Amino acid sequence: MLKTNFLGIELENPIVVAAGPWNRDGASIRASLDSGAGAVVTESIVSDTVMDVRPRIAADEMGAQNIRLYSDIQIEGWEREMRIAKAKGGVVIASISGHSPSELAYMASKMEKFGADGIELSVSNPAVESLEVVASDANTIYDMTKAVVSAVKIPVTVKLSQNTTNIAKVAKAVKAANGSGVTAINTVRGILGVDIESASPALFTYGGISGEYIRPLGLASVATIAQTVDIPICGVGGVSTGRHAVEYMMLGANVVQVGTSVITEGYGIIRKIVQELEVWAQNHNLKNISDIRGAALKNLKSFDEMKYEPSISTVNSTLCTENCSKCIDLCIYKAVTRTSGKISIDKGKCTGCGLCVSICPANKLKLGW
Ligand SMILES: Cc1cc2nc3c(=O)[nH]c(=O)nc-3n(C[C@H](O)[C@H](O)[C@H](O)COP(=O)(O)O)c2cc1C
Repeated sequence: MLKTNFLGIELENPIVVAAGPWNRDGASIRASLDSGAGAVVTESIVSDTVMDVRPRIAADEMGAQNIRLYSDIQIEGWEREMRIAKAKGGVVIASISGHSPSELAYMASKMEKFGADGIELSVSNPAVESLEVVASDANTIYDMTKAVVSAVKIPVTVKLSQNTTNIAKVAKAVKAANGSGVTAINTVRGILGVDIESASPALFTYGGISGEYIRPLGLASVATIAQTVDIPICGVGGVSTGRHAVEYMMLGANVVQVGTSVITEGYGIIRKIVQELEVWAQNHNLKNISDIRGAALKNLKSFDEMKYEPSISTVNSTLCTENCSKCIDLCIYKAVTRTSGKISIDKGKCTGCGLCVSICPANKLKLGW
């Protein structure tokens, strides 16, 4: 039921562990695979390894900021790591990062030789401004993709940045260069917060924000690509439940990657997401998880198609027993009241903004006439 084909590779399930230090070597990749991942992407490998800065990762209950750069294992060392990673089988995609098409082509052919099942080009990094510029430049992405595609027989996917003016244009360049797919999105440039006692921004510099903070951005990027380019998509950003994976797939992702949740919850989160997805698929009598791909796109309208008709909030069930007054307290137009537990909407005041419908924990409100 969860088996799926991505980039021509058969996966046991559509949950892929994203590029990051949780997949920094053979043993950690093995840990991801042993936790039930359908595939794993290595931490990004570069030809010149650099010293890690310290500190480089900060996290809170919503996500993380990182300024961690790339794998600290030389590309030659990845021959050994790939052997360890693939000792018991499993799909491993090599993430590589570089500055020129020929450098990337060279690295990709090395990783193919070392047993990688696919290549993911990591062309952006919010902590490295020059790479953010590359990520927005469709011509450079085309050249890089083409060089790598010509150098290897395994599929090549390109990881796109949300920090770009037109993500669809970049995805089109990947397709034109015969790339097999795209991954969206990488982390988004930001600052997690400021310690107001010491006036210190988290990690003392800008970095890549991930986790819950960026899921809406990832969802929108995936939908935009799915609506404009016919190309397999791997959705990533803020996935920590089976439901999040379904959301990405319904907006056009074929498979979904999980990153930050592995550092905030541990490797066990991978199996939990897979199991939640399986239960959801069973409850919905799905034969094949890929059947839901793009299901929500038909309901994703352009702003021009939005309604102006005077719909207002109505109450499904006037008796509200929850110890909650969110709809009353938060109504900007002061249209919701409750007398003896009975919720009522003042038709003269309600402007149909929809806020109460979206925040009601008991789904007792809807928009209608
Ligand atoms: C600590 C950390 C390190 C990361 N390292 C890489 C990397 O080496 N290469 C890459 O392409 N993306 C890297 N990412 C980005 C993730 O693969 C992913 O695209 C992003 O975090 C959004 O997904 P998430 O919210 O599930 O983490 C890293 C993210 C984090 C938090």
